[in-house]
Amino acid sequence: MKKVKNICCLGAGYVGGPTMSAIALKCPEIKVTVVDLNAERIADWNSDDLNKLPIYEPGLAEVVDQARGKNLFFSTDVDSAISAADMIFIAVNTPTKTYGEGKGMAADLKFVELCARQIAEISTNDKIIVEKSTLPVRTAQTLQTILDSNGNGVNFEVLSNPEFLAEGTAIEDLLFSDRVLIGGQQTPSGKEAIQSLVDVYAHWLSPKQILTTNVWSSELSKLTANAFLAQRISSINALSALCEATEANVDEVALAIGTDSRIGPKFLKASVGFGGSCFQKDILNLVYLCRHFNLPEVANYWEQVVIMNDHQKYRFAKRIITSLFNTVNGKKISFLGWAFKKDTNDTRESAAIYVAESLIEDGAEIHVYDPKVSEVKIKADMRYLWELNGLSEEKIKQKLAQIFTYNKPMEAVYKSHAVAVLTEWDEFVDYDWTTIYKNMYKPAFVFDGRNILDTEKMSAIGFQIKGVGK
Ligand code: NAD
Ligand code: UGA
Repeated sequence: MKKVKNICCLGAGYVGGPTMSAIALKCPEIKVTVVDLNAERIADWNSDDLNKLPIYEPGLAEVVDQARGKNLFFSTDVDSAISAADMIFIAVNTPTKTYGEGKGMAADLKFVELCARQIAEISTNDKIIVEKSTLPVRTAQTLQTILDSNGNGVNFEVLSNPEFLAEGTAIEDLLFSDRVLIGGQQTPSGKEAIQSLVDVYAHWLSPKQILTTNVWSSELSKLTANAFLAQRISSINALSALCEATEANVDEVALAIGTDSRIGPKFLKASVGFGGSCFQKDILNLVYLCRHFNLPEVANYWEQVVIMNDHQKYRFAKRIITSLFNTVNGKKISFLGWAFKKDTNDTRESAAIYVAESLIEDGAEIHVYDPKVSEVKIKADMRYLWELNGLSEEKIKQKLAQIFTYNKPMEAVYKSHAVAVLTEWDEFVDYDWTTIYKNMYKPAFVFDGRNILDTEKMSAIGFQIKGVGK
């Protein structure tokens, strides 16, 4: 059995950075090099100031601090890192295609393919290639074909080892995983490669936490896990609309059903809609795959999860407009939170972006405060969406002028008509809501898109408070 001594990871993003930091911390005898084409990102990973790491995750800075420079390295020298490694993780982005065949549905695998081509070109000794990115089932076959075309007589074993960490809890998820999943070929050399990766995780996880399967089951399980999680959110969000119409309280309904041990309490929190880089993209990818394999009923079933999520974001924005007497034109709406969830600076597919779009379309001014997201990022998010929708530069500039950002929450909410809570940052709960109320136009509305505020307390202050499903 080959003991892994040198690991390389292609992609220093939300997955590559934290995952490799955890491996380096737990496996001091393995050299781990994380490489990326983005020189700025690598410079930030190497920054002496740990507040400058490109990703905010609780506990990440401490882990990086312990391992960096000892056995953990960040570099832009991709070729050298590939050449030296005996195991290579591919953790590059796999966004939804924005062009051509499968546009808006299929995963764009061009970055993964480029990695495989580069590995094939550079390698002169046998290597284990690990799919860490989320990929459509059967991608390992494509990778194997590209790698085998190397022509140097090098043997590549392709493993699937999807990542299940959630942002905001990445370090905890990595160090105390429910499970890791490793899929590989069921051949003697495939099984040997699986064992090499099992040995890496066995440094800190028990055998029960390490599942091994065939490669296709592993690839498909990742998409399935995300689809199941997102489906629970869309299910409770669908019911939140019925709660609003009937005066049932969605949090009470969630508690009532979640205490049934067969259903369980997690992922039943009604919200303004799920965001993040993966749920939507992975379900769309699943839908695309089902259509590809001529399973239209299965495709339609899963697509509904995304349709319901879009509806929820739109419904939230519409409720703000109708509550504010059917127009928000010229009104100031304060956003508390822009990130797609708390404890991260990631804004990809955040519900806040879509709610802002609807309100700006109706003429509102949006005044945003988020503890970890910068003005540049907020404006770039909106610009990206408007460019995708084909708006002219003039129109985009006009709309961007309707967005204001603040470093202090009290400034964002000052003299506003309504506050919308878009991220569940803990600090929002502890605000001096009495002072906020005094400084707002009356009636003062709060739209709690995350149901984190104390409704009774807020109503007693004088707020018109509207939660999701309440
Ligand atoms: P990301 O965009 O944060 O990071 C990807 C990085 O890969 C970027 O920095 C990019 O510059 C780099 N890259 C692209 N092509 C490269 C190449 N040829 N060589 C070297 N670097 C290259 O993406 P992410 O959020 O880390 O996600 C990566 C993958 O992991 C995706 O498939 C995603 O679905 C999956 N995933 C993400 C999460 C999450 O919480 N973000 C969780 C589980 C799985
Ligand atoms: C999710 C999965 O939880 C991870 O297991 C997976 O690895 C990851 O996607 C991925 O493949 O990228 P993540 O998107 O980081 O992780 O965060 P989640 O905690 O799953 O939250 C996703 C969204 O759902 C957030 O907007 C969150 O606010 C929302 N959500 C979550 C709800 O609206 N209600 C809930 O009950 C739970």
